Order: sequence, then structure tokens, then C-alpha cells
Amino acid sequence: MKKIAVVLAAALLLAGPAATAQKSPLLKGIRSTVYQKGPQVRIYSEDVTEPVRIFVISDTHLFRSDEREEPFRQYSDRIAQTHHKTKHFQTLEDTDPEECLVKTVALAKERHADAIALLGDMVSFPSEDGIEWLKEQLDASGIPWFYTSGNHDWQYEGMEGTLEELRETWTEKRLSPLYQGYDHKLYSVEIKGVKLIFLDNSIYEILPEQLKAFRQEVKGKQPKILFYHIPFFAPGYSNHSTAHPEWGLGSDNLYKIERRQPWPEDGPGQVSKDMWKAVLKACGKNNLLATFCGHHHKEQHSEVGPWHQFTVTANYNGGYYEVIIEPMD
Ligand SMILES: [Fe+2]
Repeated sequence: MKKIAVVLAAALLLAGPAATAQKSPLLKGIRSTVYQKGPQVRIYSEDVTEPVRIFVISDTHLFRSDEREEPFRQYSDRIAQTHHKTKHFQTLEDTDPEECLVKTVALAKERHADAIALLGDMVSFPSEDGIEWLKEQLDASGIPWFYTSGNHDWQYEGMEGTLEELRETWTEKRLSPLYQGYDHKLYSVEIKGVKLIFLDNSIYEILPEQLKAFRQEVKGKQPKILFYHIPFFAPGYSNHSTAHPEWGLGSDNLYKIERRQPWPEDGPGQVSKDMWKAVLKACGKNNLLATFCGHHHKEQHSEVGPWHQFTVTANYNGGYYEVIIEPMD
């Protein structure tokens, strides 16, 4: 047993802390690199001048509610029963969504994060109590935080309306405090010279005005990161992805359970496919360093040409990414 401990300690010493200087003649002509070790993602870029540390959190699926939810229970009862007792992704110990959120925000504070990016399904339904509790935790941290919605944050199951209509209604009625004045469809902020773009693709499809706004936002060579809830299509990804060729009515296995409008028969729309191409192009031409999302609840990393897409482990399992964007030399 002792021997194993010594070997492990030696291995850790050898691994040492991650190097901050990445100078090497081998990297000549390369503007950025991506490195991942567990929940830590390090992006080295020639175009950043100081390190930027961002905690990425998605899919906490808070289920708390109070008496204000009573008139809506018929729409939230089913989903409110899910993800109560969960297991931590690292320790495998029993935990729950609230404990996971509190601990992740505390870790972000301990690590002196510059920002927290919340990528949706923070609540399992638009519970006022859940949204207020979440905002209190984030505000108390003192860390700037930014939010984009998941498909459950605004969804009341069985309620009349298209996905787009329900998203508009409940974003305005309940989620607006989380958007802090930003336009839910697409907005950007700048942290230490890095542009963070938040896109709401929580209905799977992209609207024409979102594509237009994205093309405007990505112009130029400023380093950028894109955040959204639903992964974009990449070979190997489940069809529950934006612009996935197999996304559509024929593969929608949840619309009856979730009592919502089914996905369209003819698959993803042209605008969603054009957005996919626009993101890929921005990765190659406009210094879009990486994109981050949630929704699939498990960790995934895809590489499509210059496009690095990371899907974070659900925060109800304690999942998060600590993304560090730092100078290449
Ligand atoms: Fe989720």
C-alpha cells in the first residue's frame, strides 16, 4: 500500500504544475493550442496578454420551488422528480444539485475565477424559487457571471405553444434576472481582452437574427470563446445536437414524455446549418479559440478541423470546466 502511495506521489511530482511558458520553436506559426486534463482546459493563445480563468457550469437541474409554483405543478411535476440524489463525478459520493452548485461556485472563488459561464438547465423548470436561489449564490460569490438558457429552464411540460413561443414567454417572465439586461438570443462580454459570446440555442434551431448577430460579433482577430447549451453536430455526437443530420421527428424520442412540440419532420433548418458553418469558419479565421456547451450531461470533446467543442459534465454530478486562456509565451 505504502509503495503505491510513494509511486503516486512521485508521478504527481513528475507531472508538476502546468507550465505557463509554452515557447518552443516547434510552435512557430501556430497561434493557439488546446490542452485538457480532466475538468481543466488550458488554451494558449498568441493573442492574449494575461491569463483569463473561466468556470463553466451547466445542467445543475435545480428542482426547488415554493408556493408560487402551485398553479404550475401540472406542468412541472414530472421533471421536478428528476436528479434529486446524484453521484459526484470524481469522488462517486452521494450528492445533490444544490450541494454541487454551492461547491463549484466556492471552487471558482478559491481559484480566483474571472467569470462564471452558466450554460443552461440550471433549473429543471422555470421555478421562481430556484431562479432566485441560484442568483443569490452567484451574486454572493462576487465573481462576474453570465448565463444562457437550456431547454428546461423555460419549459413547462404540456403547456400550449411552439418551443420558440414558450422560450420567449418564460424567458421574459422568469429568466430575465439571469440575463442581467443582455439579449438572450446572443450577447457578448469582454474579459481581459477575450470576447465571450453567449448564444441561446435551447430550441435546437438558430434564428436568422442570431446568425446575423454572430457574424457581426466574430469579425476581426480578437480572441473569442463561444458558449451555448446544446452541442452542435460533430461526428459521434448524439442526434440531440444542433444541425445534426439525424435530428428531426423520426428521432425525437422525448416529445411525448416532455409533452412538447415535436422536432420538425424535415430535420434541421438551413439557418442552423449555416450557423454551424459560420462557427467552423470563425474558428479558422477569426480566432474563435473553442466552444463550450452542456445538454448531453457527460464530458465530450470533439475536434472538427480547427473547431474544438467541449461538452461539460452535468453540474448535478459536480461537473464543471475550469478554462484558462493564457499567453502562449
Ligand atoms: Fe440538462
